[in-house]
Amino acid sequence: MKHKIERQGHNFVINNGAKTVAYLYFKYARDESKYRNVELSYLHVSPSYRRRGIGTLLTKHFLQYFKDRKVVWASLWTGKDIEKTKGYVMYKKLGFKQIAVQRDYHAKGIGTRLFVKRLNKG
Ligand SMILES: CC(C)(COP(=O)(O)OP(=O)(O)OC[C@H]1O[C@@H](n2cnc3c(N)ncnc32)[C@H](O)[C@@H]1OP(=O)(O)O)[C@@H](O)C(=O)NCCC(=O)NCCS
Repeated sequence: MKHKIERQGHNFVINNGAKTVAYLYFKYARDESKYRNVELSYLHVSPSYRRRGIGTLLTKHFLQYFKDRKVVWASLWTGKDIEKTKGYVMYKKLGFKQIAVQRDYHAKGIGTRLFVKRLNKG
């Protein structure tokens, strides 16, 4: 399968025929900083398509897309404490740095972590 990435609103999607098999949802801050920062809000790859590099491909596409548009920072919050799990490993491999931890954010023992990657000077 050749992975063609399409932008649909605030999503980058990969389809296989009529079926969406992966998507990356992003959003801007709702203030004057919107041209400086973009947030990777959610990334999902259908279970049967995982471990083929699709999550990495979509994330790299997202980073390059906004680098080309002179956005300074890309950020993401992990939805739960995933220190030893797959998303954490993937984001670190792609150059994101963890800059904050909020412990017990969702529930006792389940925190959230802020990761950032600089795309441009500014
Ligand atoms: C996390 C997710 C997006 C990864 O998508 P993917 O297409 O499988 O990712 P990739 O194939 O590009 O994997 C990139 C790297 O992440 C790590 N990784 C991915 N899945 C992993 C797993 N099950 N176990 C261990 N490491 C894993 C590996 O380091 C992998 O590199 P490698 O295959 O060379 O070892 C996918 O598993 C998913 O949609 N999960 C549910 C939603 C989620 O957790 N989203 C991320 C948090 S917002």
